[in-house]
Amino acid sequence: MKERTLGIIKPDGVARKLIGRVMERLEEAELRIVALKMIKLSKEQAKGFYKVHERKPFYESVTDFMSSGPCVVMVLEGKDAIEKYRTLMGATDHRKAAEGTIRRDFATDIEKNVVHGSDSKVTAEYEIGFFFSTLEIAG
Ligand code: CMP
Repeated sequence: MKERTLGIIKPDGVARKLIGRVMERLEEAELRIVALKMIKLSKEQAKGFYKVHERKPFYESVTDFMSSGPCVVMVLEGKDAIEKYRTLMGATDHRKAAEGTIRRDFATDIEKNVVHGSDSKVTAEYEIGFFFSTLEIAG
């Protein structure tokens, strides 16, 4: 089924000039980029985005990291896009990520793991709406 998901190239991925290589993998996997922009989150915005992790020990640290530099945010569309993009990214912890995944190939740390992706339909809807209005998404 055709779905949409929210993808982020995190500040480490942008700083390390990985934007092109990440996007190449998305396009090759038939994930269509239907919305795209570069933004720099404030600490407050990062806290809002990661609110589900509010009680986790890494909340302060990940929100500092996510507000430390520019990110690329994008809406990806395709068949089973949520699961497909999660498979392309690999496990959160790059040491546990499968061979050939973005995190296995590029991440340096469980926090600085290059990319983010929505983990369910409900999350995808919330996360897409967090960054994009319907006018900004190509049909
Ligand atoms: P992401 O998929 O964006 O979701 C939450 C983020 O918190 C995660 O990727 C990592 O960047 C960061 N993080 C840091 N430590 C952990 C941890 N122990 N478990 C999960 N996520 C972590």
